[in-house]
Amino acid sequence: MQWWRDAVVYQIYVRSFSDYYGDGIVDLQCIRARLGYLELLGADALWLSPFFTSAMVDHGYDVADPRSVDPVFGDMDTFDGLIADAHEHGLRVTIDLVPNHTSSEYEWFRAALESSPGSPERARYHFRGGRGPDGAEPPNNWTSIVGGPAWTRVQDPDSDGEWNPGEWYLHLLTPDQPDVNWTNPEVWADLEKTLRFWLDHGVDGFRIGIADGMSKPEGLPDIEDCPEDAGAAIGLFAPVDGHPRFDDAGVHDIHRMIRAVLDHYPGRMVVGEVRIGDSERFARYLRPDELHLAFNFRLVQAPFDADAVRTAIEQSLAAVEEVGVPPTWTLSNHDVSRPVTRYGGGPPGRARARAMVLVELALPGVVYLFNGEELGLPDVELPDAVLQDPQWERSGHTERGRDGCRVPVPWEGGAPGYGFTSSQPWLPMPPEYGRLTVADQLEDTASTLSLIRRAVELRKTHPGFDGRSVEWFGAPAGCLAFRRTGSTLVCALNASPNLVPLPPGEVLLVSGPLKGDLLPPDTAAWLA
Ligand code: NOJ
Repeated sequence: MQWWRDAVVYQIYVRSFSDYYGDGIVDLQCIRARLGYLELLGADALWLSPFFTSAMVDHGYDVADPRSVDPVFGDMDTFDGLIADAHEHGLRVTIDLVPNHTSSEYEWFRAALESSPGSPERARYHFRGGRGPDGAEPPNNWTSIVGGPAWTRVQDPDSDGEWNPGEWYLHLLTPDQPDVNWTNPEVWADLEKTLRFWLDHGVDGFRIGIADGMSKPEGLPDIEDCPEDAGAAIGLFAPVDGHPRFDDAGVHDIHRMIRAVLDHYPGRMVVGEVRIGDSERFARYLRPDELHLAFNFRLVQAPFDADAVRTAIEQSLAAVEEVGVPPTWTLSNHDVSRPVTRYGGGPPGRARARAMVLVELALPGVVYLFNGEELGLPDVELPDAVLQDPQWERSGHTERGRDGCRVPVPWEGGAPGYGFTSSQPWLPMPPEYGRLTVADQLEDTASTLSLIRRAVELRKTHPGFDGRSVEWFGAPAGCLAFRRTGSTLVCALNASPNLVPLPPGEVLLVSGPLKGDLLPPDTAAWLA
């Protein structure tokens, strides 16, 4: 049963979601306490960001034990309780999987550092001798996608037991996230063990970060004409087409292994982060024996411009059409500036974000909402001193990183914790968040939360959402209008600066007030 085909999946960035019990610790127990809210919102499933034991350099995406719960977030009993409660609320639970790298704190990497070049311990990672005199230069010219070189040098023991500058290891992210070597069977066996571990604990699926990574080209060759900042220029989102660190042919065997494991557990799903612009190469990840779904980031990357939005939608649909897999839609997650801010901030940014969420929820396929998106939260401009994202340090303080979109969710009340916590939140919450709390927005029928709740409800109950593809209508300049094939519901977006006539039909929902029969700028409407 493919429960995910039209699902609305709510992403919980665990450390920012809720410290319901007010003890300063954001744990899985707190999520249990908020399940009623998520059910009310109409979510079908949750995606939990990593809660595994971690050195927390990349907030959990540096996994130090992939088959455990970090004590900060609880224990396995809490996790089992969360799964059971979520299922009772009709919510499926998907979790992150980080197969490209481990934490440098994982027992494997510690053992590798203790061992000699050529040892089986080092063979689980990419250790190589350096180039140049005394091997003092990195083995190749790759750069990390969070800035700086992709290699770090370690100490090796010599025959006298002394430690001297020795091999280098590869890390496409920070030095605390060494890439594992997917030509090593132990790496395969370890991931299989992790998959089964969580599936046996009842998870409904996985989200794989950097699903286009993992496999590396044989011999780790230099990248021709590689500028020094080539890695950082890719960043976490930009298409990786033509960058040989990613989309290596061998990656598909890894996805086949993952899928083969999941196929033993009916009703479980795996979605991968596939940052590939070329539709044909993108679709390879969605062959019947690979991923069930793939994130593409076209909609996230499109500016608030009707042509750009339409192109992003068309390309996303075309990329999955051949393989018959539902598209996925994302406007927001923990790696990208929030839509309100991206679309210009302030009242126009908020209006545009509200309009775009109606566009997104009108589309066929799977919609991902990021915690706080339903409240119309903007990014927070944080002072330098509190920044925690490793991008800030790694870029030599030129990239502020992703903390601005990760500020905790305001639930109710006032500073400093706005019901997120009764102690200090891990990132400061601004006064503006006090006007955007869940409690207030639940009471206000004009709030973003009320809009999204209503939209999700209509999406589930109205017959106009049945079609699996999209038909476009002619629309005034700067606008777009579409409906799902074979259905009656029309979604119209006005991204122009002018008032435009509404398409014919009964208005079901609008993202902002209409002006008589006219659709104002920065507004979307659903009509039946
Ligand atoms: C993808 C995650 O979304 C991102 O937050 C993380 O930094 C990288 N993977 C590295 O694991």
